[in-house]
Amino acid sequence: MFDPHLVKKDFPILSRVIENKPLVYLDSASTSQKPQSVIDAITNYYANSNANIHRGVYTIAQEADAAYEATRESVKTFINAKSTEEIIFTRNTTEGINLVAYTWAEQNIHEGDIIIVSALEHHSNLIPWQQVAIKKNARLEVIPLSRNPETPYLLDMEWLKKYLTENKSVKLIAITHASNVTGTINPIKEIASLAHSLGSAKILIDGAQSAAHLPIDVQDFDCDFFAFSSHKMLGPTGVGILYGKKNLLEEMPPFLFGGDMIREVHQRDATWNDLPWKFEAGTQNIADVIAFKEAITYLTNLGMENVRQHDQKLIGYARAKLENIKNLKLHIPKNDTDMTGVISFAISGIHPHDIAEIFNSENVCIRGGNHCAKPLMESISVPATARISFSVYNTEEDIDIAIEAIMKAKKIFNIS
Ligand code: ALA
Repeated sequence: MFDPHLVKKDFPILSRVIENKPLVYLDSASTSQKPQSVIDAITNYYANSNANIHRGVYTIAQEADAAYEATRESVKTFINAKSTEEIIFTRNTTEGINLVAYTWAEQNIHEGDIIIVSALEHHSNLIPWQQVAIKKNARLEVIPLSRNPETPYLLDMEWLKKYLTENKSVKLIAITHASNVTGTINPIKEIASLAHSLGSAKILIDGAQSAAHLPIDVQDFDCDFFAFSSHKMLGPTGVGILYGKKNLLEEMPPFLFGGDMIREVHQRDATWNDLPWKFEAGTQNIADVIAFKEAITYLTNLGMENVRQHDQKLIGYARAKLENIKNLKLHIPKNDTDMTGVISFAISGIHPHDIAEIFNSENVCIRGGNHCAKPLMESISVPATARISFSVYNTEEDIDIAIEAIMKAKKIFNIS
């Protein structure tokens, strides 16, 4: 195991003090902080190797090329893909999902087909599929939350199994690996197996909230697509990753057209580059992709099993404290093992935005709102929640400070 107090020292922003109070960052589900090594890699690229990739023969261009492709290699290893041809750089998770919606779905979803999402989706993995369904006259179905009081905030897997036995025209299950609201980890390996048992159905995983918290093995999951973002896993903003099985990516048309994604161009037509570059049109976010490698190295050095263990420790610690607070309701699964370090809660009589404001007065960063998951808010019958979320640099002391902020909020609002 690693010591989060030592990890904290690698993140310069976490030594900030505002109005005599240390910065406590508990909003890593929104975006994580960045270690010095990532920040240095960005500066180093611009200071020493700034050149476009895949174009120049001169030394600094070759350095930029090599560094950019080295990140792809690191990503491949980090998620255990078979080849770097399966790793496409996008801007973020949302763009990766849209890429699949605009290309694979465009070719493979037809009138009357069924797309399944879950009640736990972020808008990023809902709205693209709503749009495909509208355009193609396809049906969008939603795996509901379990109504069993023993399994709150988990998906109703019995519903899914039954639905799949009765509906054979399911073509896609697009599902989040871990919820950005409740922390729920979905059984994606089981869902992939159920999808594939239908024959022609594929599964896309939104890994935005899991890649920084859980070991990822796309071959073990047997998922067809897996989309995630650098910025939630200690890396820079503006870099997303779409993994796709090679045979699917090969059959898919390009998403964006332009420079670098072509093989031959004539005045009136063109052919496409090899994978993965067929999907990387135009000058890419070179500096941030290069720096993302340092984030992967950082997480790999900590060890993703250790990262998971650390997350579990913080969830257990926070749950024990939060459960004892009167008039506070947790919107999370019952078991720590069913979730990542994302804890939504509500305090009766205080709006989550007010909770977040009071936290800010203590220099504690949390998110209050609907978390870009409005249908989920409806499912759990709340307009919004307050949310604390962890990363590798969080400590039990951070949670203690958050608990003090909750007590302050209750006092201000005169809640018992
Ligand atoms: N999806 C991010 C969040 O949950 C922005 O906060």
